[in-house]
Amino acid sequence: MTASDKPNSGNTDTITVIDNKNNQRLDLDILTGEMGPDVIDIRKLYHDLDYFTYDPGFTSTASCDSAITYIDGEKGVLMHRGYKIEELSSQSNFIEVSYLLLYGELPNEQELAEFEKDVKRHSLVDEQLIRFYNGFRRDAHPMAIMVGVVGALSAFYHDSQDISDPKQRHLATIRLIGKMPTIAAMAYKYAIGQPFVYPSSELSYTGNFLRMMFSVPAEDYVPNPVLERAIDCLFVLHADHEQNASTSTVRLAGSSQANPFACIAAGIASLWGPAHGGANEAVLKMLIEIGHKDRIPEFIARAKDKKDPFRLMGFGHRVYKNYDPRAKVLRDSAHDVLSELGIADQPLFELALELEKIALEDEYFIKKKLFPNVDFYSGIILQAMGFPSSMFTVMFAIPRTAGWISQWHEMLGDPVQKIGRPRQRYIGHGPREYVSMDER
Ligand code: SDX
Repeated sequence: MTASDKPNSGNTDTITVIDNKNNQRLDLDILTGEMGPDVIDIRKLYHDLDYFTYDPGFTSTASCDSAITYIDGEKGVLMHRGYKIEELSSQSNFIEVSYLLLYGELPNEQELAEFEKDVKRHSLVDEQLIRFYNGFRRDAHPMAIMVGVVGALSAFYHDSQDISDPKQRHLATIRLIGKMPTIAAMAYKYAIGQPFVYPSSELSYTGNFLRMMFSVPAEDYVPNPVLERAIDCLFVLHADHEQNASTSTVRLAGSSQANPFACIAAGIASLWGPAHGGANEAVLKMLIEIGHKDRIPEFIARAKDKKDPFRLMGFGHRVYKNYDPRAKVLRDSAHDVLSELGIADQPLFELALELEKIALEDEYFIKKKLFPNVDFYSGIILQAMGFPSSMFTVMFAIPRTAGWISQWHEMLGDPVQKIGRPRQRYIGHGPREYVSMDER
């Protein structure tokens, strides 16, 4: 089902707004979806009653129709096109999940092979793009490079920017999914002064990425299959997540008809924040700062202290008021990776498990329904595999590109979609006369 096959088009239920201040009333339609809360269609509210709604942070606002991802925050359920994340992360792979997000159905063998071949054929970046890297400081944060270089793709690929042309939309999609790992690995190689490694179509999407990250000209490199699988699973878990901050950013940028490369660059910028995708890097810094399980109570107390800006990074979520199903999978994957690397008793992992245990037994966290989220364990896996913490959010941006571009397509295809332009409650000065300098 796509967003255009909307349920309950012949809707009858309504909700009545009674405006006692101006002695008026208005019936608003209640629209039902396939699953999840019904929505109140407020589109005529301003025109008929001269009111705006007020919802900073959009805690109670549905910004669009979507058929891609469904989350039940109370039950800790995450599904893509109806398939549970637990099944996709254990039985599928990132390329297949990307296809599912984009086209709505699991591919058959031929469809999957063609899609994967298409993505691999677009993993190279224009040689001139390589010069961009030399303009960055060696200590530039890789996310700064990602925002810059992905945005700059629109300075190169002019044959895939006309959003009214389905062929160009498809080509931009394949280019973005194919090139993100290459651009990311180049950002890492640039930071450590090693030569860039060209992509290889002989390897899987994830194996190719690991080779571009960790191989050096002096030695042969064969990806460790356990680690390759762990990264692919991590990519599946990060691929899409409904209308989160960065996805909403991509949709809003796309609603102005900006080109797809610019929209994804906007999504990368939004993801970078520590309240969002930047949390995985912040979790590792927090675990290192805590250092020992004896200090956990001190940090739990700080997290509960309203006067202290400190928050327990990797905990809490706008939607999940239960355990983030992705965090469960990542906790198990962390154990597998550390065991494969011979560091099953890795201190940071032990500390994270202890921190989770203590937090989940704490009244504050129980009452506020604060559980580990996707970012709590991912950094432990990545650090163990040799990724620097500065690359953690990049590892979120790579797979989330599949979700962002799928949501971008859906937004463009939605007949009721128009340019996003929220209003405000104005709390500034009323009209006043200009005051000349000598009278100030
Ligand atoms: C991601 O939206 C998505 O789907 C995002 C994501 C995706 O896949 O795209 O899932 C990825 O961004 C995961 C979240 C990663 N961020 C963090 O781990 C940072 C730490 N978490 C918090 O900053 C916070 O929980 C948020 C930002 C994730 C959610 O914030 P909300 O929904 O706006 O909730 P809130 O800030 O209003 O908090 C509700 C209450 C507050 O207390 P009160 O003011 O009600 O007394 O819970 C408290 C908060 O102080 N609280 C925390 C806390 N998170 C919330 N207290 C201590 N530690 C925390 N981590």
